[in-house]
Amino acid sequence: MNILLTGINGQVGYYLNKKLSPFYNVFEGTRDSFDLTNIDQMESVIDELSPSLIINPAAYTYVDKAEKEPDLVFKTNVVGTKFLAEKSEKLGIPLIQLSTDYVFDGLKKGAYTEIDKANPQSVYGKSKYDAETAIQESNSKHIILRTSWVYSLRGKNFLTTILDLAKNKESFDIVFDQIGSPTSAIFIANTIVDITKKLEQIEKNNLYGIYHLTCSGVTNWFEFAKTIILYAQEEGISLKSKPENINPIKTADFTTLASRPENSILNNHKLAKTFEIHCPEWQNELKLIMSDKP
Ligand SMILES: NC(=O)c1ccc[n+]([C@@H]2O[C@H](COP(=O)([O-])OP(=O)(O)OC[C@H]3O[C@@H](n4cnc5c(N)ncnc54)[C@H](OP(=O)(O)O)[C@@H]3O)[C@@H](O)[C@H]2O)c1
Repeated sequence: MNILLTGINGQVGYYLNKKLSPFYNVFEGTRDSFDLTNIDQMESVIDELSPSLIINPAAYTYVDKAEKEPDLVFKTNVVGTKFLAEKSEKLGIPLIQLSTDYVFDGLKKGAYTEIDKANPQSVYGKSKYDAETAIQESNSKHIILRTSWVYSLRGKNFLTTILDLAKNKESFDIVFDQIGSPTSAIFIANTIVDITKKLEQIEKNNLYGIYHLTCSGVTNWFEFAKTIILYAQEEGISLKSKPENINPIKTADFTTLASRPENSILNNHKLAKTFEIHCPEWQNELKLIMSDKP
């Protein structure tokens, strides 16, 4: 089976490529070889490859910078994804799309379900929501996976940022008043492999739709940072900071260009039940990732 995978240098794309490649013929899309802003290039790759499945983790993901270049964000995340959806529909193949907690405004008390109303508050969040809408309107066979607080030991993300800060500073500030569920890129990749196998086994139209894909449990950025430092200490990593030296600050005291949802908790029960996925507690998953034995 030929799979078209986008963004293989990103967090999710990288691990997905590693996990899918042993089983499938994967087209390893990068910004150069499969640019979401280049329709002609995407068209010729798809026509030549004739994929049985498209998986699209690539996106414009710089949440703050997005506020300053909305045209590029929409060209990448909305126009590019819409093209993939229309192509999937024409070919009669499924499209798996990654989406985000930022489609919500964060004002709900409790976890967001898939049927809660979206109300994105940032250019990035709006672009990801418009991409979801474009996919749904295309009538393609689609699975939209909304995830949150994605981390890994690769590239720049919250985990690697905290490890860098903790190695170089005795203390630093982290916001405590945004809550959510940290989710590892490896868990996301493993789940997408499981979903791919299920889709392959049997043509189940009733599996298509929107799902929330996160680890279980809830925390805030401050507690997440302290847990990272604690686990790093347990791994014997030499650090200047200790968990007790991290200072909790309010979002209002940490100015960013884009606003972020105060509550990013996504209810993952529909995904767990439909695809028989065990969504691990975020602390267990973090420990596994940091011990590099996932
Ligand atoms: N990170 C999070 O906390 C988070 C939370 C919720 C949802 N998500 C969603 O989950 C997905 C994966 O996130 P991630 O953290 O793995 O993202 P990431 O590490 O930022 O990777 C995104 C990838 O997209 C590629 N890309 C950007 N513009 C492109 C273009 N025009 N054409 C082709 N590729 C392009 C980037 O290429 P380069 O390597 O060349 O830059 C990068 O490899 C995204 O759809 C994101 O919206 C992420």
